[in-house]
Amino acid sequence: MTDLTVSIAQHYHERTKYNPETIKTKQQPLDWSQQPVPFKEYKIGVPVDLKPYLTDNPTAFDSDPNSIWWQRLSRLLLCSYGLTGKVVASGSSHYLRAAPSAGGLYPAELYLISRGTPLLPAGLYNYQAYTHSLIHFWESDVWTKLQAACYWHPVLENTQLALVTTAVFRRSAWRYHDRAYRRICLDTGHLLGNLELACALTDYRPHLIGGFIDDAMQQLLYLDAEQEGAIAILPIADLLDVKQNLSLARTALPAATHFEYPAIPDGQMLGYLHQATQLPLDTTVKVNWKPTATSAQRADKYNFPFCLKVSTLSPPIDWGSQLEQLETTLLQRRSTRAYSGEALTFEELIALLDFTYQHQHYIDQGLDGSPDYFDVSLVETFIAVSSVTGLEEGCYYYAPKTQELRQIRFKNFRQELHFLCLWQDLGRDAGVVLFHTADLKTAIAAYGDRAYRYLHMDAGHLGQRLNLAAIRLGLGVSGIAGFFDDQVNEVLGIPIDEAVLYITTLGRSAER
Ligand SMILES: Cc1cc2nc3c(=O)[nH]c(=O)nc-3n(C[C@H](O)[C@H](O)[C@H](O)COP(=O)(O)O)c2cc1C
Repeated sequence: MTDLTVSIAQHYHERTKYNPETIKTKQQPLDWSQQPVPFKEYKIGVPVDLKPYLTDNPTAFDSDPNSIWWQRLSRLLLCSYGLTGKVVASGSSHYLRAAPSAGGLYPAELYLISRGTPLLPAGLYNYQAYTHSLIHFWESDVWTKLQAACYWHPVLENTQLALVTTAVFRRSAWRYHDRAYRRICLDTGHLLGNLELACALTDYRPHLIGGFIDDAMQQLLYLDAEQEGAIAILPIADLLDVKQNLSLARTALPAATHFEYPAIPDGQMLGYLHQATQLPLDTTVKVNWKPTATSAQRADKYNFPFCLKVSTLSPPIDWGSQLEQLETTLLQRRSTRAYSGEALTFEELIALLDFTYQHQHYIDQGLDGSPDYFDVSLVETFIAVSSVTGLEEGCYYYAPKTQELRQIRFKNFRQELHFLCLWQDLGRDAGVVLFHTADLKTAIAAYGDRAYRYLHMDAGHLGQRLNLAAIRLGLGVSGIAGFFDDQVNEVLGIPIDEAVLYITTLGRSAER
């Protein structure tokens, strides 16, 4: 098929839209006995138990540098992707993690690559969330291969450890079919959000790499290409080592844009898109890793003459001395299952926005004022306000540079939001429903079809900041990745070029 106007990423997006006409006929009943296990098992390898380093007492290891080192790593992994909850249903246990996941399916796996440190011998490790341990499944030095796979990214010259997130596609595709790729990238984005903040707690700085040679990473981690793919790489710089306070580098590299592709049957779109958005296996490519200035400088995208404009300037959320409230929040976060319908206050809403988008306000508290995204300037925010005391109902554009809400429609959309969120009550009963969107054409012009991955990961990353801010403020929150795509734009008046990436609902939990 050749369509010179629609690239494969746009085609995938169109093909995986939910539509009220077709959704009922497309959905098949789930056979829960077929659900893939969300944990990876290794038959061989040396386990490294991280549980002994978990303690409520932060000073417990003060005198032993080795124990402190292990404690940092143990906390980092627990706060990012460790098990933090358990649900028992029909006699079987279902474990919940620090990062949320669409449907609780956890397609993401987390690997650690060591260059070889005094405490962590060189090689490949998989994080085994179930036992909170690492399994050292490959004992040779692979750092040079990692550098080559990342086109010699400068941060890898000076770091010793790197995390890699992969996705086991079937864990999510089993339920969500082709649309699962969107959720896989959103889930990964949430995990990246946790990693960013858990690193701040443990004196690491994660440097995000989205531009890597997919095939090389596949081989390096011994992944079965049909089943699992690398999604993001994060060298973690140790901030306690002065040589590892490193300059920022580019996070996203462009890939090809494919306008020629065959007729792809249902059920094969996910695999096809993942393959089509890979970067080429050519380690001689010279990349200029200097961050591009333009993306940071882009102005607020939408301004509407004569619309209601409301400043969102807010005092920052307080994460406690030494960020201890951040750690508690990471470990206690849960998605809300039902809202009471009660209003949020305006102060709560603007505090949520402040933490999510105004990173520079959190430097004093020890957070990164400029954490890595792929290109967050491509992601826009629209907010449907159903019930916020002190703010008119309606749909607003959030202007992050000016820090204001700009109203685009004035109406209470509760009933419409119920429908748009596939009749999920969370959409109807939330005080606020927030939409992350992007112009796919513009993003693809900048990054090729790989933009599709970057956009969904950035939207998930922002979603996780909203999640954590909401929990800290005692509010309810849940992501929603199932929605009637085109109808969102029509009903709420969001410009038609903005593809909806993700929804976050916010409200007062009915479960308190
Ligand atoms: C990308 C994404 C999409 C989600 N979509 C929905 C949704 O449509 N409806 C819903 O009730 N929950 C949704 N959730 C919440 C998950 O069901 C929840 O994260 C999961 O059950 C694990 O529970 P926890 O978040 O409390 O740890 C979503 C979460 C993520 C990360």
